[in-house]
Amino acid sequence: MSDTEPQALSPEEYATLCGFLRDRTGLSFTEAKRYFVDRRVAARMQAVGAADLRTYMNLLRFQASGEELQRLVNLMTVNETYFFREKYQFDCLVNSVLDELVRGRPKGARLRIWSAGCATGEEPYSIAIMLLENWRRVDDYEIELLASDIDSAVLDRAREGIYDERALQGLPAHLRAKYFQPQRGPAEAGGPRWRIVEDLRDSVDFSLVNIVDPQQVRAFRGIDVIFCRNLLIYFDDLGRREAASMFHDALAPGGFVCLGHSESMSRMSSLFVPRRFPDAILYQKPVDGGGA
Ligand SMILES: C[S@@+](CC[C@H](N)C(=O)[O-])C[C@H]1O[C@@H](n2cnc3c(N)ncnc32)[C@H](O)[C@@H]1O
Repeated sequence: MSDTEPQALSPEEYATLCGFLRDRTGLSFTEAKRYFVDRRVAARMQAVGAADLRTYMNLLRFQASGEELQRLVNLMTVNETYFFREKYQFDCLVNSVLDELVRGRPKGARLRIWSAGCATGEEPYSIAIMLLENWRRVDDYEIELLASDIDSAVLDRAREGIYDERALQGLPAHLRAKYFQPQRGPAEAGGPRWRIVEDLRDSVDFSLVNIVDPQQVRAFRGIDVIFCRNLLIYFDDLGRREAASMFHDALAPGGFVCLGHSESMSRMSSLFVPRRFPDAILYQKPVDGGGA
């Protein structure tokens, strides 16, 4: 063992670290996640030569660049996603929600859709494809597709837009042929890969945003639809309630939230009204802006 090799975290150290991560990211790590957390923290402590947790936490807290905190956060997130995941919600968007939202809006008006927790980009790109393919009024409005994540590494991959077979499995073949170009060269060693076409890459505005940081979400206002799917499962109840309140502030009156299939707003917040459409249930901010 080298001098700087980290020891396993004591229960108190584990609680301190998880409390810190909970405050900074909303991510809640219970004792059941100890193996996952321990291994990642030990790897980072070793990489920076921190002999004990106190030294490492000082780096996380006080490093001016925030670089180490970002590296640790990147390791602690679960970024699983794929094209057309929970497609019934995208169907709902193009079959019902968008028509309702633009009713009474003049041609050329802005529509803002935000994928919060977009991981490697499959979700916002799926939305872009669905709009182009299935919403006949797509050219009548100025559509802004915003996508964000707390993990800087997945955002780099989202901007690059290169995907493997697994990510593309749910996409019909004709859409793959239309919107993706096969990648050639050494990368094929890991199996074939495809790059999403430039026009679609340019259609999504990716940014690094931690949804629990009020300063970072301040720029998100007047949003018409927020997709925040399969992110709040990693939060505790308080974190979910806070996130719901943030969505409420970010949405325009009458705007909608789409959550993952295992996430229910009724258990998080009474600020929204559940709306049952033929394809899915979404949660709407009341038009008068209020809530119960
Ligand atoms: C499992 S992925 C879900 C991806 C996509 N929304 C989907 O449903 O397929 C969860 C994403 O949430 C991101 N995330 C976790 N905590 C976050 C936070 N506080 N702010 C922003 N993104 C966060 C993670 O980095 C990860 O990429």
